[in-house]
Amino acid sequence: MLMEKSDLFCHDLPSTFQPKIGKILVTGASGYIGGLLVPELIARGYSVRVMVRAASPANKERWPGAEITIADAHDYDNLKKALNGVDTAYFLIHSLLLGHKEFESADIEAAINFRKAAEENNIKRIIYLGGLGDSKSSLSPHLRSRIDVAIELSKGKVPATILRAAIIIGSGSASYGIIKHLVKNIPILPIPYWARTKCQSIAIRDVIKYLVGVLEKPETSGRSYDIGGSDILTYEMMLKILADLLNKKRMFIPFPYSAIGFYAYIGGLVTPVPSQITRCLMEGIKNEVVCRDDSIKEVLPFQPYPFKRAILAAMSREEQDKIHTRWSDAYPPGYMLAMKLHELQKLPRFRSSYSIFSKKPTSSLFQSICKIGGKEGWFNSNTLWRLRGVIDRILMGVGTSRGRRSSSSLRVNDVIDFWRVEDLKPEKRLLLRAEMKLPGMAWLEFLVTDQKENVNQLSVNAYYEPRGIFGMLYWYIFLPFHLFIFYDLIKEIEKQS
Ligand SMILES: NC(=O)c1ccc[n+]([C@@H]2O[C@H](COP(=O)([O-])OP(=O)(O)OC[C@H]3O[C@@H](n4cnc5c(N)ncnc54)[C@H](OP(=O)(O)O)[C@@H]3O)[C@@H](O)[C@H]2O)c1
Repeated sequence: MLMEKSDLFCHDLPSTFQPKIGKILVTGASGYIGGLLVPELIARGYSVRVMVRAASPANKERWPGAEITIADAHDYDNLKKALNGVDTAYFLIHSLLLGHKEFESADIEAAINFRKAAEENNIKRIIYLGGLGDSKSSLSPHLRSRIDVAIELSKGKVPATILRAAIIIGSGSASYGIIKHLVKNIPILPIPYWARTKCQSIAIRDVIKYLVGVLEKPETSGRSYDIGGSDILTYEMMLKILADLLNKKRMFIPFPYSAIGFYAYIGGLVTPVPSQITRCLMEGIKNEVVCRDDSIKEVLPFQPYPFKRAILAAMSREEQDKIHTRWSDAYPPGYMLAMKLHELQKLPRFRSSYSIFSKKPTSSLFQSICKIGGKEGWFNSNTLWRLRGVIDRILMGVGTSRGRRSSSSLRVNDVIDFWRVEDLKPEKRLLLRAEMKLPGMAWLEFLVTDQKENVNQLSVNAYYEPRGIFGMLYWYIFLPFHLFIFYDLIKEIEKQS
């Protein structure tokens, strides 16, 4: 991922590059934390191997300077190969997106395989970022699972360094996304008793500094550390601070109803973060997550950000359109296994195509195409797009509120509302795959083709492969809207280019 020097976090880290450290494996690199760790390690001069589950031409572009290996932690043989020749490995695998019933067993299986494969390869160290929480108390399944993974990774011959954190505040983090949208979208916020639980959140920059810092301090091998920001606050206090910073007048009302399932459902509706994640995270709200031990400060003496500063840093990154990784990068789970348009044996059954001609240059037409969705909206018929998003959300789909990672840049696998970029050929083609709830599979393709005498053709193709009778009905119900949704869309794209 191309990150400017000023976007890196570790320039003032009280530790230095360790030339003796060999190849570093980063798992979970497509995730929020791993995606930010990789460029930091490369910038410091380390040799990095990135482990991802899906092969994609976009991988090289995303992690220039890193070796890419394809492996699933549930496939032992592949995992063993990924760890071959590795000095130190980061375990940043997390299966929350599998939801409530499956994530615990998936994560523990990944950890068992990882520990064994690390032993077989004689790697020197494992570094793991887990969760805070008192293991003796009754913890939520999510927090319990984070501790079980830490125990599993520490069992073997390879020494593990465990970092334990509460919620992480940063642009693109799911926790920050939830609290920000709660405050933005709900004028009267009900406060159940558990909103007064204490939490020591931490800024993403400090998490990355600790992850790199322990690598460069060999004495941290085999040890566990609590990491946190400089404030201990209740969730209610966090919401109030955020409301102030967002300049929103909000009423906070003590509320007797405390069922987490209800709040998670509401959270899933009013925030872009999917209900699987919202629920797993909210279940942990009843558990106090504060640092019990501050020995990390002796090893890596720097002042972590307080909550307010962490929020301001996240807001500033959003304003500057500098979000490099985001929870939506990996949502929905298994998106990489979805059928691609070119993988179909024949073209989808239905297709609507519209074209216009333009004298504007290819580059500006394409730039304008790449701005669709997110805050900019869909140029025209925005109400219809939003309505489709709301219906999708009610059906527990992804909805349109995922928005996009960046308003100015796009890469393969980026999310645009309820679409995902499947193919991107600069100045030629943008292909989006539908991730909304549909009785079939759908794609939206934008093409710019060079015609003679400085004229370009701008086209949009909507492809649809129905599933069963409802799939067919769906196509015919929406067909009359295509003309003014798609044709007007390209006309507007042309106008704005
Ligand atoms: N984010 C927070 O607020 C927070 C707070 C405290 C601690 N942590 C800890 O930080 C770590 C990383 O969290 P995150 O927020 O970066 O998670 P995330 O964004 O959900 O990313 C999870 C990563 O795990 C990968 N993964 C899932 N199953 C896998 C498998 N079977 N084999 C290989 N890779 C697999 C995913 O890859 P795909 O793209 O292929 O799905 C993705 O890259 C976790 O241990 C978490 O507990 C996070």
